Amino acid sequence: MNDAAPTNEFRQLVFSGVQPTGNLHLGNYLGALQKFVALQDTHDCIYCVVDLHSLTATLMHDDLMDQTRAIAAAYLACGLDPKKNIIFNQSRVPQHAELAWIFNCVARIGWMNRMTQFKDKAGKDRENASLGLLAYPSLMAADILVYRATHVPVGEDQKQHLELTRDIAQKFNNDFSERIAACGYGVEMEVGEERVNGFFPLTEPLIEGSATRVMSLRDGTKKMSKSDPSDLSRINLTDDADAIARKIRKAKTDPEPLPGELEGLTGRAEAENLVGIYAALAEMSREKVIAEFGGRQFSDFKPALAELAVEKLAPIASEMRRIAADPSYVDSVLRDGGERAGALAEETMKKVHDIVGLLAN
Ligand code: AMP
Ligand code: TRP
Repeated sequence: MNDAAPTNEFRQLVFSGVQPTGNLHLGNYLGALQKFVALQDTHDCIYCVVDLHSLTATLMHDDLMDQTRAIAAAYLACGLDPKKNIIFNQSRVPQHAELAWIFNCVARIGWMNRMTQFKDKAGKDRENASLGLLAYPSLMAADILVYRATHVPVGEDQKQHLELTRDIAQKFNNDFSERIAACGYGVEMEVGEERVNGFFPLTEPLIEGSATRVMSLRDGTKKMSKSDPSDLSRINLTDDADAIARKIRKAKTDPEPLPGELEGLTGRAEAENLVGIYAALAEMSREKVIAEFGGRQFSDFKPALAELAVEKLAPIASEMRRIAADPSYVDSVLRDGGERAGALAEETMKKVHDIVGLLAN
């Protein structure tokens, strides 16, 4: 313990994670990976393959190690630099699970029961879901807060989990406020209009752009997802040029041409989805896409979208194959990242021990 005055403001730090389950698809790319890549130029970033999370729904995986390597290979193939960023798999840094335990004691069961992802994944037989599935958001909060990360790029579906992360940080900061002050570990931050002092930052979600929720190509009301039984519903990051073009050609649409104004997309879920995908891939606004394609038929728009998607995604697929062919390289990236992440996580946990009152020396 020391009596240092509170330090001013948290250092900006980005954290995000992807589960090693199933193939990555266009939704993961536009909602998450593309943003990870952009952020590496402006921020310190930590990108994790969250293998412990993947045990919550399914305990036994045939090929969890290979899936973990495959996500890491996708990170690298998209252009993340393993020297500039920290890239690792979650289970290498046991402090994630340790902090999650403490957060299990901070968070309330009612908070977890309200999570829509839990309700969806647990289905009707909630009593029979794993305790891990219920506590999933607590581990997610620990992933972020064990680095005291301030910004988290994710797709729209993770918004509720990030709100819960803030709730956990806030409750920890309140419950332990006196001890945080006594240890001199407080950091000042702005919350609304007020300046408050706390140990954990209230993390900002980064959910921005035209494709925060990419929908199924077969049904514009359903999210594009790894678990959809129809492979035509999604573009996998491993798809070759032919598969990408075929899936876009077969994507569900309506018979009208594209509207001349953005408002004209309202109520046209499939058209809206394809315009959003085009905008995100081209890194332009949806207004601009409409300005270019408004009034045109899907028979014109789809080939343009297919060409753009192939141009952006096919090189990632081939780079993923090249990197995945060298598992020892991928392992060395994860090992190095794990060591660097571990050192940061240990610093936070030493302070958490002091704050909570866990005897460590
Ligand atoms: P997951 O595969 O569930 O671990 O998701 C990894 C990341 O991809 C998270 O940031 C998700 O929010 C994001 N994501 C998953 N599906 C979609 C989607 N259909 N549209 C946009 N982002 C998505
Ligand atoms: N829950 C996220 C998902 O399913 C994955 C995840 C786990 C994550 N820990 C995280 C995302 C921390 C961002 C930050 O997509």
